[in-house]
Amino acid sequence: MHPRRFPLRRGAALIAVTLAVLVLPAAAVAPAPSIAAGGVPVDAAAVVPVDAAAVEAAIVEHARRGTIKGQLVVTGEFDDHADVCPTTPDGTPLTSEEREELVEEGRRLFHSTTELGQQASSGPTVADQQLACVSCHTPPAYTDGRTHLVGPTEHRDLVPRHTPHLLRIGGTAPYSWDGRFDCLQATIKAAITSPLEMNAAREPTQEQLNALALFVETLDVPDAVPEQDYDPELAAWGEQLFSMSRGFDIAEDGALFYGVSCISCHHDPLGTDGRFHAIIAPFPRSPVALDPGHIDDRGRIRGFKTPVLRGVRLTAPYFHDGSMGDPTGSRSPYLNEDPIGALLVMMEAYDLRFSFNFTPQERMALVHYMLSL
Ligand code: HEC
Ligand code: HEC
Repeated sequence: MHPRRFPLRRGAALIAVTLAVLVLPAAAVAPAPSIAAGGVPVDAAAVVPVDAAAVEAAIVEHARRGTIKGQLVVTGEFDDHADVCPTTPDGTPLTSEEREELVEEGRRLFHSTTELGQQASSGPTVADQQLACVSCHTPPAYTDGRTHLVGPTEHRDLVPRHTPHLLRIGGTAPYSWDGRFDCLQATIKAAITSPLEMNAAREPTQEQLNALALFVETLDVPDAVPEQDYDPELAAWGEQLFSMSRGFDIAEDGALFYGVSCISCHHDPLGTDGRFHAIIAPFPRSPVALDPGHIDDRGRIRGFKTPVLRGVRLTAPYFHDGSMGDPTGSRSPYLNEDPIGALLVMMEAYDLRFSFNFTPQERMALVHYMLSL
């Protein structure tokens, strides 16, 4: 495996234009995304800055504006690690003791910086650190709220991805924001072996992967407390708004149609429809040309998997690139109240994307519903 430079993507501008046409409803077109102009991902002449904070800032900038400074090196081709996925649903079911033992083993591995053969990471945000799972998936919601550079994916060498929470994600395959792994074991193996993440010197055993997967399936947070975490009246109103069909989108045939609601995709807010959607943010947060997410068999950009909304109050910022959460530029008086500021930024983006036409009070009600999940 030879390190190679992150190549300029010839198709990026084309994808940007296609996407702008595909996913932006007519009503939400102003202001137009600037991907085509600013979407070339790499300043090829520059070199890697060594300062981790500066690199992280660059990645966040990449996520927000579709540009990144600095040269990045990747190794290897995309591997879906499908060989480690269980092929039969538990030939002989585990006894509860066996299961408990495996979960304990998984817990131990999840917190260890050495047991999986970790070496210093070459991920720019975690450079030179010897990582445990918990270094990135930190409690309470098992996300550090940071956007890391991972890859290769099926379609890109490197992509900025926000560390997802791990709350109640058992049974929500496929995994990762773009659904490129069929089971938890495969996702976990990629994290262990990727030089950008744990950079392990050896392959994990199937038993280690099973233990980690079982442990991950146990993770959750306590339910949100009414009055303390959210306003119950607002949340009840927000729940109604969540299922109200009043937005626009563009159908497969390109026609504008009416009748989109939050539950069109988040059928079950604590689950997922298992499908992919391109939710584009209004200018200037439009990095989709860089990271298309899932691309289907016919070559169409499908975007990202509908995420499980459990514990949203603890998982800001939001979206695959962490781009929903920068309060800068929002006109909300609540902008410094994390996660409310972050959720309001998102509601603004959703409003533009689907022309929901929410009032400020309705947006706040939706936010409180989100805080209650
Ligand atoms: C460098 C930080 C980092 C480390 C270390 C890390 N992860 Fe992750 N994890 C991420 C990011 C970022 C993603 C999203 C990847 C993507 O969408 O391409 C992710 C995705 C996942 C997912 C998929 C979640 C979903 O809902 O689809 C699981 C499960 C997971 N990691 C478990 C683990 C386990 C177990 C370990 C330890 C063996 C680990 N991770 C180590 C950052 C990390
Ligand atoms: C067309 C399908 C679709 C609709 C409609 C939709 N969502 Fe989403 N939602 C998604 C997808 C896909 C993502 C992940 C987007 C990404 O990462 O780029 C997402 C992400 C989110 C997140 C962030 C979760 C996280 O962990 O980052 C929240 C919260 C959310 N949606 C709430 C809502 C609310 C509230 C509405 C209605 C106002 C709504 N969604 C409408 C598909 C949809």
